[in-house]
Amino acid sequence: MEKKDIDWSNLGFGYQKTDKRYVSDYKNGAWDEGRLTDDDTITMSECAGVLQYAQTIFEGLKAYTTEDGRIVTFRPDLNASRLKDSAKRIEMPVFPEDRFIDAVEKVVAANAAYVPPYGSGATLYIRPFMFGISPVIGVKPAKDYQFRVFSTPVGPYFKGGAKPITIKISDFDRAAPHGTGNIKAGLNYAMSLHAIVTAHEEGYDENMYLDPGTRTKVEETGGANFLFVTKDGKVVTPKSDSILPSITRRSLVHVAKEYLHLEVEEREVFLDELDNMAECGLCGTAAVISPVGKVVDHGRDICFASGMEEMGEITKKLYDTLTGIQMGRIEAPEGWIHEIKVD
Ligand code: PLP
Ligand code: COI
Repeated sequence: MEKKDIDWSNLGFGYQKTDKRYVSDYKNGAWDEGRLTDDDTITMSECAGVLQYAQTIFEGLKAYTTEDGRIVTFRPDLNASRLKDSAKRIEMPVFPEDRFIDAVEKVVAANAAYVPPYGSGATLYIRPFMFGISPVIGVKPAKDYQFRVFSTPVGPYFKGGAKPITIKISDFDRAAPHGTGNIKAGLNYAMSLHAIVTAHEEGYDENMYLDPGTRTKVEETGGANFLFVTKDGKVVTPKSDSILPSITRRSLVHVAKEYLHLEVEEREVFLDELDNMAECGLCGTAAVISPVGKVVDHGRDICFASGMEEMGEITKKLYDTLTGIQMGRIEAPEGWIHEIKVD
């Protein structure tokens, strides 16, 4: 199959339309059989649940070309299961997990010409999402829904790729205690837009959100979880009910323990512990692991020993092992790599 003529190595994290997307409609209490379509547009009532009350959830995963030329995705079963959890939390019907995987397979196979070549530094980002499409005016769930999956080739989430970024402690919260911070709902991202625009205007790359209850503990950024490395080489990652259970973070915890034989702590991380950390990274599908060189707390710089030039030593090992597994250079744990058959 001939690849599209795209400058893969210079792609940013942006949207470009690919050939096919998957659509399934939920009507009269059931999902239809679903289909691939060329149509990237959606027509709906002006009063649709998604437009009025933000009833929408999504997922994000990537397709990779491995060293030996296969096209694979990484742990799509966990995205299917997280979408199910998100759906339940905001009163949407569950899209069956096996059908989620089938839809991802169909979209990737139909857009195989857009899956970036091995070694290009780019990947095909896959965006499954679901929203309330029928009209609601009283505050209640919609009756009808649409599930879709599109894909778009992407490069690094942060400009500069592996160069450490600077983040600020946000004065805004992205989630509420007992709220929806632990699901992937569009409303959480709308919450973060003013904060990210403000951070960018002030010259920062991202925000560090604190726990909304006490504002003393580290939560996450608008689109990634945190991983820290202590000065004595332990990997520490925040545990909280109001952060998204990142698949990348859960995978890195396994990699740290089982591949790199590091000690790992998943626990509350207090803001005033940051001075004791040697390395910091943001982890997520889009972010992979993006190193953080400095956190700014209202004018006070917290600088990690790893500095502003390159990834910390342990962060780099985690990055190399995870991407090695994803690209087929390192043997993966059972069930992590899901091959897509392309005719
Ligand atoms: N946290 C937030 C708020 C996110 O949007 C994401 C991205 O999906 C993550 C963390 C990372 O999750 P994952 O590793 O499953 O992509
Ligand atoms: C992802 O990593 O898949 C996300 O959804 C994060 C988003 C900010 C792009």
